Amino acid sequence: MEIKAIGCEPLQLKRVHLENSHTLKVYQENDGYKWLKKAMEMSPDAIIGEVKASVLRGRGGAGFPTGMKWSFVPKDSPKQKYIVCNADESEPGTFKDRYLMERDPHALIEGMLIAAFALNSQTCYIYTRGEYKYLIDIMDEAVEEARAANLVGKNILGSDFSCEVYTHTGAGAYICGEETALLSSLEGYRGHPRMKPPFPAVEGLYASPTVVNNVETLTAVPQIIEMGGISWRDLGTEKSGGTKLWSVSGHVKKPGVYELPMGYADMERFILEDCGGMLRDDKKLKGVIPGGSSVYIMRANDVIGKKVLMDYEGLVAAGSLVGSGGFIVIDETVDIVDSTKNLTEFYKHESCGWCTPCREGTDWLVKIFNRIAEGNGRPEDAQLILDLCDNIEGKSFCALGDAAAWAIQGAIKRFPEDFKPYLNGQKTTSTEPEARKF
Ligand SMILES: Cc1cc2nc3c(=O)[nH]c(=O)nc-3n(C[C@H](O)[C@H](O)[C@H](O)COP(=O)(O)O)c2cc1C
Ligand code: SF4
Repeated sequence: MEIKAIGCEPLQLKRVHLENSHTLKVYQENDGYKWLKKAMEMSPDAIIGEVKASVLRGRGGAGFPTGMKWSFVPKDSPKQKYIVCNADESEPGTFKDRYLMERDPHALIEGMLIAAFALNSQTCYIYTRGEYKYLIDIMDEAVEEARAANLVGKNILGSDFSCEVYTHTGAGAYICGEETALLSSLEGYRGHPRMKPPFPAVEGLYASPTVVNNVETLTAVPQIIEMGGISWRDLGTEKSGGTKLWSVSGHVKKPGVYELPMGYADMERFILEDCGGMLRDDKKLKGVIPGGSSVYIMRANDVIGKKVLMDYEGLVAAGSLVGSGGFIVIDETVDIVDSTKNLTEFYKHESCGWCTPCREGTDWLVKIFNRIAEGNGRPEDAQLILDLCDNIEGKSFCALGDAAAWAIQGAIKRFPEDFKPYLNGQKTTSTEPEARKF
């Protein structure tokens, strides 16, 4: 597993290779908590101004500008304000947050404390999926170390700023990564999404103003205070500031977590050189899912020779999205029908069942994929699948429905040659597990 920066100095990955990088001692020896001290000498508006200037966009998937989100928190609200770190990391193909929490937990705590100071909040929560229990142990230990050093708790560093940090595990449901379902779960309810608006910044946890940010978003905040918003932005591009972590999996020789400057040129070089090239030398690239399973799959010929820039604008122009940066490389051995069936089963299983288009639609999609996989496909199934997706996309209560539709629409529109023999009833899916793997 490679963990390294390419095309920039490591920022998110600056400390992860140090021995005992998870400890307060090592963090402080490497400038840790210096930027909290600096932030506490700034005004809250100045901190928000730096985050806005940095053009940091949320790394959880939606890419919403973080400074703008922070500025939506009503300053005059008499209610308690909350900072919630979304550490659910449930998007298939995504595993960067895990490394940040495992190897650099104090960076997350420092980022949350700076956010809390800027937004006049005294309470932070870190919400993880149930499978990340071991990370909660690491985070809890780090919080206690920080508390003992007067960096968490009452009167931080002798100031009148007090802030608690709590950890919380869910039970391992994909939907609990959706920010409003996460808040329901954190309150002890079933993880159903909530109506937006009101957005969490105005009415979130316990109906109080709440900023929900991804782990990688929050760990970028101390860097922004250190460098200044503009300098941090300039590591990337004008509209996609800074650096970004990509969780690379699939058919490359060197899978891992890579930090790239936003706007890195280009995706072909990234796959074929930086990630070591194709896993098996005699197999060609077939496609890439660049931003976690919920984004449109790309064909090799959308990548090879196309100089795709790896940032928000570059990937939209190339017909996909940055999403969570879960970068899945697929070689020519993969059967796209079978792998899409696998993803369809995932979305059906993870649909929370709250709204009809997603609950019923994903179930019907699985039934159709099962029939096709058994050799009973019909030519009209392609249109039937697209019609079903059309009745889910934009018509569901939360973005899980859209995500399910995009994953399937992308596959069927971009890999018709894989679907054709199935739709003519001439092929069944392989029972070999290798054929299903990406
Ligand atoms: C089904 C679903 C799952 C999601 N899972 C995650 C997740 O695991 N981690 C995450 O940070 N954001 C996830 N999101 C995005 C969050 O709703 C939200 O946009 C994000 O936490 C905001 O933080 P950011 O602005 O820092 O990205 C998910 C969204 C959906 C619709
Ligand atoms: S779209 Fe799916 S996950 Fe979202 S509320 Fe509806 S049923 Fe639940």
